[in-house]
Amino acid sequence: MKTIRLSKTDLAYVDAGQGTPVLLVHGFPLDHTMWDAQIAALAATSRVIAPDLRGFGKTPPAPGDAERGISMEAFADDLVELLDALAIREPVVFVGLSMGGYIGWQFARKHGGKLRALVACDTRAIADNDEARAGRIKTAEKVAEAGSVIVADAMEPKLFAQSTFDKKPEIVGAIRKVMESTPPAGVAAALRGMAARPDVTNFLPSINVPTLVLVGEHDAISPAAEMKTIADAIPGAEYVVIPRAGHMTTVEEPVAVNEALSQFIDKLRS
Ligand code: MLT
Repeated sequence: MKTIRLSKTDLAYVDAGQGTPVLLVHGFPLDHTMWDAQIAALAATSRVIAPDLRGFGKTPPAPGDAERGISMEAFADDLVELLDALAIREPVVFVGLSMGGYIGWQFARKHGGKLRALVACDTRAIADNDEARAGRIKTAEKVAEAGSVIVADAMEPKLFAQSTFDKKPEIVGAIRKVMESTPPAGVAAALRGMAARPDVTNFLPSINVPTLVLVGEHDAISPAAEMKTIADAIPGAEYVVIPRAGHMTTVEEPVAVNEALSQFIDKLRS
C-alpha cells in the first residue's frame, strides 16, 4: 500500500499490475480490502488502482468532513486528483460497489472524458427516501460517541446471502472487522454525503461508455430487480447476476465476479 498527498488528505491506495487502468472503488463503511481477490486476478492483465476513500481504511478524513459530509461528487473529485497525481492519462475502467457505485455515477457525470468503461456493482440510482435520509443523519450524529460498531451492527445482517452466513463465517468476520475499525469521522462524513446524494435515474440513458451492471442474486440493499432497471436504462449495458451472493459479491463469490470483470475488460481490448 502506498500513500500520496492530495489537496484534502493523504490518500492510501494499492497500485498493482500494468495495462488498462482499472479503478476499484469500495463501498461503505469498508476499504480497498473488499477488492483483494479482484486485485490479485485483474493485476495480471491490467493496472489496478484500489484506494481507501477519504475517511476509510488508512486514508484520514479532512478537518470538518464529519460535520460537513463528503458528497459523492467530492469523492469522485478525489479520485480524479489521484489519477492525475499518478500521471494516468488513459481513461479508466471505473468499478464501484454500492457507495462506490454512487461515486461512479458522479465520476461519469462530471469526469466522463476520463472514463473508458463503467462497472456498477450492487448499487442504486435513486436517492434516499426521507426516512433513510433521516436515519443516516441520526447515525452520523451518534457515531462519534457510540463508535463505528453501531454501523457494523446495523449493516452486517443486510450485507450477505444466508449461505455466506452459514458456510463462510470467516468472510462475515473479516468484513465486520473492517467496518468496526473505520474511523467514526469517516463514517459520519460518508453518511451525510450519501444522505445528500442526488437521484441519477434521468442521467442513466446518457451514459455512453461500455457498462456492466453486476449484482448478487440475494442482494438485500440493491436488489437484483432494481439493478435490472438500471441496466435497462443504460444504452447497451450488460447485466450479470452473481448466484448465491448477497450485497458483498466481491468477497462472497470472488471467482464469479472475477470472471465477469475479466470478460468485460478483455472485450474492451478487442
Ligand atoms: C454500501 O455498501 O456502500 C452501502 O450499503 C451503501 C448505502 O448505505 O447506501
